[in-house]
Amino acid sequence: MKDAILLGFYKICKSSVSPICPIKRKVKMKIIIAITGASGIIYAQRLIELLLQQEDIEISLSLSKTSALLIEDELKVKIDLQKFNPEELFGEKGKGIVYYHYEDLTANFISGSNHFDAMVIIPCSMGTLARIAGGLSDNIILRTADVALKERRKLILVPRETPLNYIHLRNMLELTTAGAIILPACPGFYHHPKTINELVDFVVWRVLDHL
Ligand SMILES: Cc1cc2nc3c(=O)[nH]c(=O)nc-3n(C[C@H](O)[C@H](O)[C@H](O)COP(=O)(O)O)c2cc1C
Repeated sequence: MKDAILLGFYKICKSSVSPICPIKRKVKMKIIIAITGASGIIYAQRLIELLLQQEDIEISLSLSKTSALLIEDELKVKIDLQKFNPEELFGEKGKGIVYYHYEDLTANFISGSNHFDAMVIIPCSMGTLARIAGGLSDNIILRTADVALKERRKLILVPRETPLNYIHLRNMLELTTAGAIILPACPGFYHHPKTINELVDFVVWRVLDHL
């Protein structure tokens, strides 16, 4: 009997008639963004700035411990990860972002049963990339990436490192095979950029193309 009810519910969902169908309830696109300790924090800042211009996108943000050093060095903003307020980096629009400390394992999206559409790690350090490739998940950035892969959701990694050693390349191959998109922060020059912002936008637009 229970099976028959479930089958009926499934059929209703498939025909997209029921207002309680989970697919129909999903109105906002939910994106998880993580900033880790690689150079290129400006890429994350610009990506979030552009996403905040969209009304139908919900952003959750986490920062790795080392990213705080890079944020201070590259953006000249000193932050305390325990009580970080996104407005410190994104102004008033930052109110729309939900921030999670990297050790906050109560964040609901670290469970596969709570939906999110995509995760972007930008910039993605080779350390974080290696830990994801190795299946580690002892902070919410790693765990969410792990969930994205297991649930076949979009996982975009934006590494910034050069040159690449054998281990970096092997980890990237491992992750691309597992379903992640490796999108290195490698701006092109065929659009004749005149400013740093144009170089940054080149990479950020590639990320947006894949979301
Ligand atoms: C100033 C500074 C710059 C760094 N730049 C890079 C970088 O561009 N790419 C990278 O993969 N790692 C870089 N690292 C190394 C990572 O921060 C380090 O491996 C760290 O453990 C990564 O931790 P996380 O992935 O948890 O942020 C840098 C470290 C520092 C202190």
